[in-house]
Amino acid sequence: MLRLFTLLGYCFFSLASVAQQVIPVLTKSNALVLGVDAKNNLSSVYFGQRLADEREYTNVLSMYRQTEEYSGVADAAYSSAGSRNLFEPAISVVHGDGNTGLELAYVSHSSQTMPKGVTLTTIILRDRVYPFQVKLFYKTYAEQDVVEIWSSISHTEKKPVTLTKFASANLYLRAPEFWLRNYHGDWAREMQPDEARITHGIKTLDAKLGTRANLFQPPLFMVSMGKPATEDDGNVLVGSVSWTGNFKVDLELDNRDNLRLIAGINNFQSAYTLKPREEFETARFLYTFSSEGKGLASRNLHNWAREFGMVDGHGSRMTLLNNWEATYFDFNEQKLAELLKDTKKLGVDLFLLDDGWFANKYPRNDDHAGLGDWKENATKLPNGISYLIKEATANDVKFGIWIEPEMVNPKSELYEKHPDWVIRQPGREEHYFRNQLVLDLTNPTVQDFVFGVVDDLLTKNPALAYIKWDCNAVIYNAHSAFLNNQQHLYIDYVRGLYKVLERIRAKYPTIPLMLCSGGGGRVDYGALQYFTEYWPSDNTDPLERIYMQWEYSYFFPAMTSSNHVTEWGKQPLKYRIDVAMMGKMGFDIVIGKLPEKELALARQSVKVYDSVKNIIWHGDQYRLSDPWKEPVASVMYVDRQKTKAVLFNYLVNNRYGQGSVGPVKLKGLNAGDKYRVREVNLLPGTRSAIDASKIYTGEFLMKVGFNPAVRQGRNSVVLVLEKM
Ligand code: DGJ
Repeated sequence: MLRLFTLLGYCFFSLASVAQQVIPVLTKSNALVLGVDAKNNLSSVYFGQRLADEREYTNVLSMYRQTEEYSGVADAAYSSAGSRNLFEPAISVVHGDGNTGLELAYVSHSSQTMPKGVTLTTIILRDRVYPFQVKLFYKTYAEQDVVEIWSSISHTEKKPVTLTKFASANLYLRAPEFWLRNYHGDWAREMQPDEARITHGIKTLDAKLGTRANLFQPPLFMVSMGKPATEDDGNVLVGSVSWTGNFKVDLELDNRDNLRLIAGINNFQSAYTLKPREEFETARFLYTFSSEGKGLASRNLHNWAREFGMVDGHGSRMTLLNNWEATYFDFNEQKLAELLKDTKKLGVDLFLLDDGWFANKYPRNDDHAGLGDWKENATKLPNGISYLIKEATANDVKFGIWIEPEMVNPKSELYEKHPDWVIRQPGREEHYFRNQLVLDLTNPTVQDFVFGVVDDLLTKNPALAYIKWDCNAVIYNAHSAFLNNQQHLYIDYVRGLYKVLERIRAKYPTIPLMLCSGGGGRVDYGALQYFTEYWPSDNTDPLERIYMQWEYSYFFPAMTSSNHVTEWGKQPLKYRIDVAMMGKMGFDIVIGKLPEKELALARQSVKVYDSVKNIIWHGDQYRLSDPWKEPVASVMYVDRQKTKAVLFNYLVNNRYGQGSVGPVKLKGLNAGDKYRVREVNLLPGTRSAIDASKIYTGEFLMKVGFNPAVRQGRNSVVLVLEKM
């Protein structure tokens, strides 16, 4: 066999090209090691746990005896099209003269250390023929074991170059097998997981919806290496593209069974023309790697997000009462005044006025009209927002408001005045998503308008304390009256959105902003850097939320998840409240209609939540019992000192006899410490099945576990652990 292959001119086994120089990109526990060979090809040498002796990275590739690699660049750190590369490229271009060749060679690299354990490694690559350059950036967050990768593309050719693909990152992973966990969804069905072994060929995760881009698929995924990772075992990369628009992740299992992971902005309808000396900066690809399963990976991301990836990650949040499901569009000043009193009665911090407060010529009385006309509706609110804020203050609560400033209803004054501000195809029938269209944020005048919506509200009402930013439509009929090159629309839209958000944050750095998109249609780390929290889904059925929040929690810290208690679902109020507590709690129910006992429970819950919210927001999260597999879901949060923890347990299977038959093994405690376990948020007037006088060691609770006594009639149990 070997002889036959040799005769045919192939060598059956080949050692990968030998790196003359390695560039280790390191975090506390992990390494991504790149290599430069004698011909200045930059390749991927190693991805995994960090080695104590850096010199040993040069030996890694000699341990692989895989089949012939014909091109010599299959493991490129940033593969290009139009060279020897035979696989999916990270970058493809059409040069100014029409040539499509690109072969990037290593030029130099440098490293810059920054505060908080951050290091930025920059590698410069240049085409071997054309004056075309790519800078690769690897930003490492050592403590959190998180890496961000992106690139910057530029050239000094005589004519513009067209970029037809422009990935952020290109990883090359070696393992016996790979498993992918990715997500699909729709309205009210966000974050539905799929997990499967990756087979040969290319699996693409992508979005082409423009805005509300993640409606069908978010840019969030995990790749387990060797075997599917569990919570505490296995090698797993948890990754995401930080881009609030069309993204693309290609996972290509090649002929040698290695996995090429190429992630970034989607090139769909987006061939980008780059003028000489202009820089095209890609989105960031964010990942963490864990050799101890998904639990550690998610805690890495939580720690990273609170420190670097969101607004005010170490701060506090306000509990709230929202009126969306309580009133929909049907409210007036008087009704709102009552709701403000209810806010106080409930004991939460803020009242959030949702959709329907604006527009006069075409009043916003349903979702067919008014979007774009951001002036208080004079019939509903004759005294304006400022009056409502005064009322809120009189009730000792704060006031927040809903906006959807990127959108317009065709039935609006804005549409009548500025049809050229709207994304639509001239001469073609308009197609609406929730009866609305998207404003053209590539146009700086439209950016000013959108910024102005927020700025006006906050200038006129400095006491306004919270904004819910919604985005309910996708982009149909992509066309901008402003752009000369329509291929730039999807990318420049997102850039325009970021410019607006940047301006808002420069002027209003601390105001809490909720990232909403008809539910979780837009939850990504590109947007979250401007927001304090997101709205996971309009589906607030607590049973559904247990699963959704479970999946979101692999990527985002609990404090970012806005969980509202509503009328959705068949579970009792206590169950609904307990589920909402696992994040940033709010209410969207008619408080005035609650029976006395339920009102007492709701008020008590706010107090209970106040006593545990800091553990949930700033502590470490452990997913203990998996609702996809077990009849009981258990999730635990432990404070940094391991002195206090809160454990949520829910019955998710209503079949006969289902419940917590055995103990749930707790995590994250100090084995040698002693803890008291007591049940909180009991229904008023009931007694707990848990004996709160007993003391257990951390060792017992982690090795033997604790039974929360979940069963029919006790289908939601919240336990607090306190170190003695
Ligand atoms: C969609 C959001 O997800 C809801 O919470 C609500 O704000 C409506 N939009 C209002 O139109």
